Amino acid sequence: MLTLGIESSCDETAAAVVRDGREVLSSIVASQAKLHAPFRGVVPEIASRGHLVMILPVIQSALEKANVTLNDIELIAVTREPGLIGALLVGVTAAKSLAWYLNIPIVGVEHLAAHLYAAAMENGEIPSPSVALVASGGHTALYQFQSMSNFEILGSTCDDAAGEAFDKVAAMLGLAYPGGPSIENAAKGFDIKDINRRGANFNKPRVSSGEFDFSFSGLKTAVRYRIHPPAGTKRELSNADVAEIATAFQCAAVDHLVETAMKAARACGAKALIAGGGVACNQLLRSKLRESCAAIGVELFIPRTELCADNAAMIAGMGWKLYMDGRRDGLDMAARSTGAVL
Ligand code: KG4
Ligand code: ZN
Repeated sequence: MLTLGIESSCDETAAAVVRDGREVLSSIVASQAKLHAPFRGVVPEIASRGHLVMILPVIQSALEKANVTLNDIELIAVTREPGLIGALLVGVTAAKSLAWYLNIPIVGVEHLAAHLYAAAMENGEIPSPSVALVASGGHTALYQFQSMSNFEILGSTCDDAAGEAFDKVAAMLGLAYPGGPSIENAAKGFDIKDINRRGANFNKPRVSSGEFDFSFSGLKTAVRYRIHPPAGTKRELSNADVAEIATAFQCAAVDHLVETAMKAARACGAKALIAGGGVACNQLLRSKLRESCAAIGVELFIPRTELCADNAAMIAGMGWKLYMDGRRDGLDMAARSTGAVL
């Protein structure tokens, strides 16, 4: 069955054609990063307008790259929640129009569940029980995972999402948006052991709410105070200062994600750990998760980086899975800014 997936929840306009929920025939992602870069973060109104311009060309490219026509498509899957409402509406309206015109079924997909499906898409069946970590620009949470249709939240961020913290710290350091890749680049080649020896590291976040919750705002404030001490004047940062702060921040943020995820994996007796979301592109996070999982005999399911960041292949895959499980949505389907499922 050929599914056309459509994603427009934040600042990527994406479309993909996927066969039987797994075989990615095409996956086109048009990033709006350049439009939002001057503001060092996503501006919702600009995002909606950007999607309107790009949605049809991106769908057209996905069909061409997959070497199929609209008439070959048998199912439309679209991100319906959570996300920026104006942005979501562009994708949902395009999806509904196509489903109506082609007279084929449409399925609305939960964006965060799709980030988890991306791991299953590449690696096959995920053993249960498992623990899943989603770390993106808008969300950071841990789930106890039994199957794609049965998972429960264990903990989430009390303040900023992990990706949001990367973006905000990058902005403070004068690095480009999106901040995750900029911080990772700035930190390349820097030795955290040397930073620790000099006491220039940041303390790992401490969370007083749930055992499996996250917090990034204290770490963000620590970076701010390192740049501009409360009782002092703002420092002019050299390239070496920027690299040192980026390295120390990245290390503290990654350790917080890995330690909390591993704590949950041990507590749940997890056979596997699933990771997804844009922050899972981070190479330090990937290697620390690999090491920590290997150390306690937990299998790690983490998609290749193109499937970690926002894309429509995961939406098509997840939509197909829901459809095969009997889900049907009507043309009255609403978009929602907050997720109902997770
Ligand atoms: O999942 P995603 O593409 O979009 C949302 O659903 O939010 O995640 C985007 C977030 C951004 O905050 C971006 O800075 C972060 O993922 N990100 C990274 C890396 N690549 C993207 N964070 C850390 N390291 C990276 N290499
Ligand atoms: Zn996402």
